[in-house]
Amino acid sequence: MAKYAQKRIIRKLDLERFLSTIQTNPAPKVDLEQYTISEDIAAAMLYIAAYTNNDIVGKRVLDLGCGTGRLGLGAAFLGAKTVLGVDIDKTALNVAVTNARNAGLAANVDWVNGDISAINGHFDTILQNPPFGVQTRNADRAFLVKALASGKMIYSLHNHPQVDKRLINMLKSSKTGLFEVQPSAFLKRFIEQHGGAVKAVYATLMTIPKMFDFHTKARHDFVIDLYIIERNLVK
Ligand SMILES: C[S@@+](CC[C@H](N)C(=O)[O-])C[C@H]1O[C@@H](n2cnc3c(N)ncnc32)[C@H](O)[C@@H]1O
Repeated sequence: MAKYAQKRIIRKLDLERFLSTIQTNPAPKVDLEQYTISEDIAAAMLYIAAYTNNDIVGKRVLDLGCGTGRLGLGAAFLGAKTVLGVDIDKTALNVAVTNARNAGLAANVDWVNGDISAINGHFDTILQNPPFGVQTRNADRAFLVKALASGKMIYSLHNHPQVDKRLINMLKSSKTGLFEVQPSAFLKRFIEQHGGAVKAVYATLMTIPKMFDFHTKARHDFVIDLYIIERNLVK
């Protein structure tokens, strides 16, 4: 019996508390851009998916590039019917397995160690925080293509197209930490070409601590965009 899985609406603060218990990657790899999503951004993403759009509770959820499982386990915690997490990195996935066990959610989540191209099933909802393509150019594009081929609703994080100091200041003083913005022209076209439609885009502030030698500052603030995408039924 899962320690946490539940069907009642749960408070965002409780979701954040749960997500903060999900351990991060002890040895993140530069080439795979293994930044763990922060608990506040994961909670915001999951909350919109679950309670604004009804895309989590009772749904079949796929966490593409799951890392240590924060998004997938958050979905299981909120009451997803099934969750599958896939990651190419065995170390990250081993932490995900331990996280699931510690959360009492081992029976609710399945894990696959492999490339996202190995996934063939159909899912209601895809959650993904893909590599942004900083190390391998366009790495997020393969994730979008796979998500659009595998699910109906997609929640996908992407780098904001330009550095926008005004937006950063607005987000720092915003209560929700989210601000609705326009999609990048390129991503909008790319998503449409692959059978999807962008429903909304929310900018939010991501802060990462110094993780790799090439990071020059103790922490780095940058804007990322949460894309909410629906796959068109008729291509
Ligand atoms: C930015 S991290 C996000 C991890 C986790 N979803 C989170 O939000 O905390 C991207 C993840 O994608 C994984 N990854 C990168 N390329 C992959 C691929 N081709 N197939 C499967 N996983 C991949 C990395 O190992 C890494 O764990």
